[in-house]
Amino acid sequence: MSDKTVVITDASTNRSATLPVVSGTMGDPAFDIGKLNKDTGYFTYDPGFMSTAATKSAVTFIDGDQGVLLYRGYPIEQLAKQSNFLEVAYLLINGELPSAAQFQTFEHDVTHHTMMRESLKNFFQGFHYDAHPMAMSMAAVGSLAAFYHDSLDINDPAQRKLAAIRLIAKMPTIAAAAYRYSIGWPIRYPRNNLEYCTRFLHMMFEVPSEPLQLSPVAAKALDLLFILHADHEQNASTSTVRLVGSTGANPYACVAAGIAALWGPAHGGANEAVLKMLAEIGDAKNVGKAVERAKDKNSGFRLMGFGHRVYKNFDPRATIIREMCHKVLADLNVSDPMLDVAMELEAAALKDSYFVERKLYPNVDFYSGIIYKALGIPTEMFTVMFAIARTAGWVAHWLEQHETPDAKIGRPRQIYTGAPTRDYVDVEKR
Ligand code: ACO
Repeated sequence: MSDKTVVITDASTNRSATLPVVSGTMGDPAFDIGKLNKDTGYFTYDPGFMSTAATKSAVTFIDGDQGVLLYRGYPIEQLAKQSNFLEVAYLLINGELPSAAQFQTFEHDVTHHTMMRESLKNFFQGFHYDAHPMAMSMAAVGSLAAFYHDSLDINDPAQRKLAAIRLIAKMPTIAAAAYRYSIGWPIRYPRNNLEYCTRFLHMMFEVPSEPLQLSPVAAKALDLLFILHADHEQNASTSTVRLVGSTGANPYACVAAGIAALWGPAHGGANEAVLKMLAEIGDAKNVGKAVERAKDKNSGFRLMGFGHRVYKNFDPRATIIREMCHKVLADLNVSDPMLDVAMELEAAALKDSYFVERKLYPNVDFYSGIIYKALGIPTEMFTVMFAIARTAGWVAHWLEQHETPDAKIGRPRQIYTGAPTRDYVDVEKR
């Protein structure tokens, strides 16, 4: 809180509110409007939260104009180069990078919570064979609350931490099970002698009949994608986790709600939508037509993987993924014509005044699908992959929320546009 205040006066009633200015360590300041309605009789109106900070948070910082993304103060570029996903998860949750011993304990704890209960495994049999893996993952995560009554006391810090570890540990197991069920393969148990990403790839692709030949490039690429997707401050799914968390709901319900919010094509579902779009475009020579269609508001078509609510310059994650995409495809010896279509599309849009004026740039998901595809991960799994990574951020925010004294239930207000008060009319008179 700074000493600065902003005074808002309604000249017609002479009622005014003195609004304290709240500043963080970095980023734009905000007016604290908590008492605005009491002092003036006004609410604020901000659909889509274009100018509203819903919380204070020390987890992640974004400067959308400069293309900066920091997890706990560390630039994403440095973490992508020097860290690994589990270390990043530790950092997000605990606020500091772990010592070697702290990391070992964390990795051990995550590794030893990877199994699903056998009865949860059987849940999958209840789904239709062609169920979307997001639907299965969301339901399975929500159902975890039914298995872990020992960690549902949200007022106990040790139980909160245990739930966070369980969620990070079990997400890959659940995700891989959803995939295996959808293709009719037996579900694999997690192998605890492997590290996080390699273990996940084994659960996805290993068959009982022969050993899996896995390129080390695959696990490394996946780890990097997970780092880049691990958190992104108050995005729609994280805000959903916090809103549900504000009611005192259990962590599994909160994260299941986060998965639901992530699913939409305007958010995490974009990576799946990008690949479908690139497949539809089909050839670099059709890019011009696609760009024209995206500019036509009546077409209902947008360039998927383009634009971002916060980044109005470039998405630093997209820059890293773009470079990585070329390297991974080369290392795996994969040649994908979709990469040519994507590059042509990016170049065409970045030259076009429609996209330039609106500051629309490729976002994190423009190239991520091409990498997932090269790793053999099917399109329907892309958003699930995002959910595995984002679980680290969701639980970090959920933990932070519960460490905040005097936290309030999230309860927005509205501008009512319905009928004014009127009297009930008996059916024969309507
Ligand atoms: N293609 C074409 N036009 C676009 C696109 C796009 N991808 N994105 C925005 N625009 C246009 C809008 O039509 C609007 O034009 P107007 O000013 O003439 O009306 C203008 O740019 C601003 O768009 P808004 O929708 O108001 O921007 P907002 O910040 O609300 O939306 C969003 C951001 C949802 C990401 C949007 O850019 C979009 O739909 N992108 C495609 C989906 C996508 O890639 N989502 C992933 C986001 S990143 C993530 O969640 C991991």
